[in-house]
Amino acid sequence: MSKITIAIDGFSSTGKSTLAKQLAKELGYVYVDTGAMYRAITLFAMRNNFIGNGEERLEDLVKVLPKIKLRFVPNAELGFSEMYLNDENVEKEIRTMEVSKRVSRVAEIEQVRYKLVEMQKAMGKEKGIVMDGRDIGTVVFPDAELKVFMTASPKARATRRYKELLDRGEEVSYEDVLENVQNRDFIDSHREFSPLRKAPDSIEFDNSDMGLKEQFERLLSIADRCI
Ligand code: C5P
Repeated sequence: MSKITIAIDGFSSTGKSTLAKQLAKELGYVYVDTGAMYRAITLFAMRNNFIGNGEERLEDLVKVLPKIKLRFVPNAELGFSEMYLNDENVEKEIRTMEVSKRVSRVAEIEQVRYKLVEMQKAMGKEKGIVMDGRDIGTVVFPDAELKVFMTASPKARATRRYKELLDRGEEVSYEDVLENVQNRDFIDSHREFSPLRKAPDSIEFDNSDMGLKEQFERLLSIADRCI
């Protein structure tokens, strides 16, 4: 069976990662969560006071970008890869609301996008990959054999994300989560460099009223037709 490239894009908290991860496992493909990469750069920027506390020194972040080392390290026990920033496992820290509040600002920077897109392209050279993000079908893999664009109502998305954060033990309010999801979508769709867009040749997938099992079965049957 030939291996293909599967690009999954869409708005924040549409459940892209969960679905992409499941699909990759079923097909025996590599899964790459590109949001984790933007989040790791953001965490680095926060730790170095390039962003946060009312401050923004993003030109200083750009200067040290070449020195930032990102790596996905497989965790056999968990069954997926974790994000390492300069050899430190930051999988937990990058998922907090503090990072979510700032990540879209960092993801607007042209040099940040260039660095990460180059890494993502290299990861997909051999095909057999499911990658999720905002610009995968438009910029990273414009020739992907299967492109999916996921959407869901803002309410459905904020509810999912809120539950996820509570499960991780974060103290957040539903209103804050809803505002964050909407803010990120706005910045992601309006930025100058590779804004979030539905690729014209992508399949739109609205999962507002769909359970995980149904989503997975539908997506798998779409993928099976492309392989
Ligand atoms: O997918 P996730 O919600 O973790 O992504 C976090 C943020 O990273 C997005 O809101 C967006 O600003 C940025 N991002 C991006 N391009 C990607 C993946 C994520 O700009 N391919």
